[in-house]
Amino acid sequence: MCGIVGYIGNKKAKPILIDGLKKLEYRGYDSAGIAILNSGEINVVKSKGRIAVLEDKLKDISLEGTIGIGHTRWATHGEPSDINSHPHISKNGKIAVVHNGIIENYIQIKEFLLAKGYQFKSETDTEVIAHLIEYNYEGDLIKAVIKTLNELEGAYALGVLSTDNPDMFVAAKKDSPLIVGLGQNENYIASDIPAILKYTRDILILEEKEVACISSDKVEIYNLLGEKQQREVFHVDWDVSAAEKGGFEHFMIKEIFEEPAAIKATISPRIKDNEIVLDNLIITDEIINNCEKIHIIACGTAYHAGVVGKYIIEKLARIPVEVEVASEFRYRDPIINEKHFTIVISQSGETLDTLMAMREAKKKGSLTFAIVNVVGSSIAREADDVLYTWAGPEIAVASTKAYNTQLAALYLLALTFAKRKGLLDQHSYLNYLSQLQELPNMITSVLNEKKEIQKFASEHFNAKSIFYIGRGLDYALSMEGSLKLKEISYIHSEAYAGGELKHGTIALIEEGTLVVASLTQEQLFEKMIGNVREVKARGAVVLAIAQEKNADEVAKIADAVITIPNVDSVLAPIVAVTTMQLFAYYVAVMKGNEVDKPRNLAKSVTVE
Ligand code: F6R
Repeated sequence: MCGIVGYIGNKKAKPILIDGLKKLEYRGYDSAGIAILNSGEINVVKSKGRIAVLEDKLKDISLEGTIGIGHTRWATHGEPSDINSHPHISKNGKIAVVHNGIIENYIQIKEFLLAKGYQFKSETDTEVIAHLIEYNYEGDLIKAVIKTLNELEGAYALGVLSTDNPDMFVAAKKDSPLIVGLGQNENYIASDIPAILKYTRDILILEEKEVACISSDKVEIYNLLGEKQQREVFHVDWDVSAAEKGGFEHFMIKEIFEEPAAIKATISPRIKDNEIVLDNLIITDEIINNCEKIHIIACGTAYHAGVVGKYIIEKLARIPVEVEVASEFRYRDPIINEKHFTIVISQSGETLDTLMAMREAKKKGSLTFAIVNVVGSSIAREADDVLYTWAGPEIAVASTKAYNTQLAALYLLALTFAKRKGLLDQHSYLNYLSQLQELPNMITSVLNEKKEIQKFASEHFNAKSIFYIGRGLDYALSMEGSLKLKEISYIHSEAYAGGELKHGTIALIEEGTLVVASLTQEQLFEKMIGNVREVKARGAVVLAIAQEKNADEVAKIADAVITIPNVDSVLAPIVAVTTMQLFAYYVAVMKGNEVDKPRNLAKSVTVE
């Protein structure tokens, strides 16, 4: 969702900005633009559509400048159009701004500026920032930006360029991600690390409400009182290749194939001498034993991981768990007391609703524990404790390996809670640990079934509607399977609890309706067989997902069966989800969709 890049140094800014914006394409956008300071003048080139359209526009324009800012926009205020694209320029043409986030009081500011004679070209909230900086400018850009930021309400990551300051530009952040990359006599800003990883691995992470003054040879950080801040350099240790396709057709399929390694990286270092070791876990035995309720908060796929978390924590550790989407949690005045604690789950660590919901839980006195993939992200920094999922960078908009690793983290937590509460005998505990360590191999064998899944997808990619059904953990799994499919294939899809079908939904099943049925839960197997018979009797075509040991029986009634290795029912979702991710992927490929950048979606949702 909106990407920002900035550069200052001795190289031409244009190719660096374009390259950086391309690396941020995965975040989702509908227009793009750059502003470059060229012989005392700011040149802005921007356009609706893909970066290729912008590149085309730039072909015949000579831009020699070595300082500039760039942006990919995901429309919020005003339709995607050339005019609404960023950068936006102030009235006198001396200040250019790129912005990620939403300014909530922009209407009041706009009215104020209109009364002062400012005119607006776009419908965006961002344009007010450019004019307000100009209005507040008295010869010191940093002071003008700080004054402006103190007048803004809402969220922002900003890049600000000014003709009066050809040797520096300004960046700022609140509730939207922004990092500073440190080079040799050149420096960068970006919304995310992959945009600048080619040039530097040394970064500074801006904290909330901080402003950075970026020159080619130094970076100074201030708070909104204008006081200088110190910041340690964060060294990125993952490889550039981790953020590239490496021979795969899409990031999504590459990331699905990375699942065994990602799960191993998340689990292995945390099992030592037949024991789960979560270093300095803030959730002490006392907290676990006295805990009356756990809240799990997340959005989208991470929420679906949370639903699995509810089932497994309740089953293994017997602690009641309430799981809720962050956008609902934060506004419903949830009941939390000091005997509750809150788990937030987020791949990016920047999802605004999740961040705000976490702050709400904290405000109400709850301990907050985050399961996050991106190191140093806002949620990771603000939570009381964090358990990183070591999935590596996830570039495709549709989340895959992050989900599996979120489940891995939840298994580690659920087993830890259960053990500490004395609810798991040593034999069962060790059995779970050994199966957890086997998960990468199990997923590898699912990946080996890709041909069958691809074949089934090629026979059904024209389906109008696809239902996912399951019971217990298979219902939680079905929610994720269904979301994955609709995100990238644009096929209508819904997930239902198997037992709920006959209370209404079964009316939609007719000759040829495709139903993906999960039958991985041992204790619910016969019940699900019954549900499959019900839909088959009404003409449905059924793709079943079952454990190897049950495959023959399921094959008698389903049209096709994808098998997963035999595994304890509690651990089945982390293995079975890969079949659904592959199915969604191949359906989308067959439909010719832009798999990695599905329409209307953004990777990191940094607005409400
Ligand atoms: C689905 C997807 C989204 C995200 C959701 C939360 O494939 O990617 O539903 O899961 O936007 O994002 P994070 O996990 O970054 O908080």
